[in-house]
Amino acid sequence: MGLSTTRNDPTQYDRLAGEWWKPRGAFAALHWLARARADLVPAPSGPRSTLVDLGCGGGLLTGHVEGYRHVGVDLSAPSLRQAARRGVLAVRADAAALPLRDGVADVVVAGEILEHVADLPAVVDEIARVLRPAGVLVFDTINDTLWSRVSLVVVGERMPGGPPPLIHDPALFVRPERLAELLARHGFRIRVRGLRPSLRDYVGFLLGRRDSVRMLPTRSLTSVYQGVGRKAS
Ligand SMILES: C[S@@+](CC[C@H](N)C(=O)[O-])C[C@H]1O[C@@H](n2cnc3c(N)ncnc32)[C@H](O)[C@@H]1O
Repeated sequence: MGLSTTRNDPTQYDRLAGEWWKPRGAFAALHWLARARADLVPAPSGPRSTLVDLGCGGGLLTGHVEGYRHVGVDLSAPSLRQAARRGVLAVRADAAALPLRDGVADVVVAGEILEHVADLPAVVDEIARVLRPAGVLVFDTINDTLWSRVSLVVVGERMPGGPPPLIHDPALFVRPERLAELLARHGFRIRVRGLRPSLRDYVGFLLGRRDSVRMLPTRSLTSVYQGVGRKAS
């Protein structure tokens, strides 16, 4: 398989699928983010509660949430195979055209996918369609700022634990105001907060003393931010 030279080429995830579950591998920071994301996921309301994990990748969220029927949607078949091994019900599909029925999900999680999609309004429409009334959306993504470009692309792609080279196209980064506006069209009100790695943990990671880095909440939305919203009942 040839190496991609195009930013945000979806086949990169096929090539890197063997990295998903390596704590110090190409997707190390996604392990840290999955933990922070799970903090926003409500407890399941019943034994058949369904969580739809958009762009589930290798299923890293499975290590952090329990009790849901966990449906994972992704374009990458090799990544979905990794997720299926961890109990995810794998669905190969585009997040902009979900083969799922209206209102099937109690919770939709969109972790680090919104900054990868070409048609964000279509993905938001699909999130709103598959969530049941009063269902919860949990998301994290990357703000469209100069700081994101520097910290996550120019410098970040060269740092241990940083994103794999070429994985991001900064032109697709998502301003929180735009996301809020798209979701408001479907009656969602969202709350957002920034996330930053613990400096102390990251130094420990660099020194090989720890594999995991805590992502701490911050008021600054200049780079990675996470949020939660509820669909109107
Ligand atoms: C940065 S990874 C995040 C994976 C996972 N959510 C996590 O945080 O560990 C982005 C994932 O989104 C998937 N993806 C990108 N565009 C997609 C689309 N339009 N529809 C479905 N999946 C998509 C990729 O294949 C990849 O697995």
